[in-house]
Amino acid sequence: MHDSHVRPKIETIRWVGDENGYAELIDQTLLPSCFKYLRCDDIEQMWKAIRVLSVRGAPALGVAAAMGLVLGLKESSAKNGEALLGDLTEYKKYLESSRPTAVNLFWALDRMERIAEENRHMTALRLRRRMLEEAIAIRDEDMRTCRALGKKGESLLKDGDSVLTHCNAGALATAGYGTALALIYAATEAGKRVSVIADESRPLLQGARLTAWELKEASVPVTLICDSMAAQVMKEGRVDAVIVGADRIAACGDTANKIGTYGLSVLAKEHGVPFYVAAPVSTIDMALADGADIPIEQRDGEEITRWSDRKIAPDGIEVYNPAFDVTPAGNITAIVTERGIIRAPDREKIAATIE
Ligand code: MRU
Repeated sequence: MHDSHVRPKIETIRWVGDENGYAELIDQTLLPSCFKYLRCDDIEQMWKAIRVLSVRGAPALGVAAAMGLVLGLKESSAKNGEALLGDLTEYKKYLESSRPTAVNLFWALDRMERIAEENRHMTALRLRRRMLEEAIAIRDEDMRTCRALGKKGESLLKDGDSVLTHCNAGALATAGYGTALALIYAATEAGKRVSVIADESRPLLQGARLTAWELKEASVPVTLICDSMAAQVMKEGRVDAVIVGADRIAACGDTANKIGTYGLSVLAKEHGVPFYVAAPVSTIDMALADGADIPIEQRDGEEITRWSDRKIAPDGIEVYNPAFDVTPAGNITAIVTERGIIRAPDREKIAATIE
């Protein structure tokens, strides 16, 4: 379906030129001090952009990986589709080694490979063009999906609500409209006055640097808090709903998202606050029965022991730095997808939505 009226709020990632062109993405490591596009001409640059979080957020990682594959294919000397497919499999493996948790990255690469297999009879050049078309289709679909998800989910919010969110599941984490923040944007567009409390999201501060920035850009009222303040803020009755995104949802509804999300779900339960997960269907991994099997990315300890170029912990200190945690389905009031709202999610309801 072609939907030309769907325009991103922020153009997180784009392709410039034909199959020999390049990708440009907002360098999110520089925000909020500097808004600048990073140009990726080759697959190594895209791998690094993913690894260092210049581009991040599950749906955006899917788009970045697909475009990364197109960049890889520029280097291939294959003369026919069959040989190109062989190279593509190698590039795919390489991109899969960038970050392990967000399933959208793997989902997008699998989709690209499937299309290449179906079109292996093409010449190498025609297949490369087809691959670029598919990468762009993944990006365009993500924009439509996020809009649909926002529209479905905004019914959960009423005029005057205050929503607590964690990390960044906004326009910057997708092709351009967001998942958790899509509900906020859609509610605002529907005329409701909704405000946001943004957790700063240590250690990399996606909440402070990115969510606070993009909500301010969109003129949505936002208040920044430290992660450790969430309990008190809920106790004071300042939160009507918690809405977060997801990196991977297992078949039973257990959800991996930015470290700290699980704690918020426990707090929400304790304080009788609804806890919503907003994610496209492509974030659901039916191959994993439950959350225990979701691979959790472990990141460099320096993200915790250094503050910019300053040391903030003693030399040689032992550090544990998982980038994500898993919220059990039992703590989730509803999962909002582009296909509808799954209340009290479980295996059966999720399978019925996926079908
Ligand atoms: O490490 P990040 O910044 O890639 O983590 C991102 C998140 O945890 C998001 O909440 C998630 O990917 C959902 S994005 C719509």
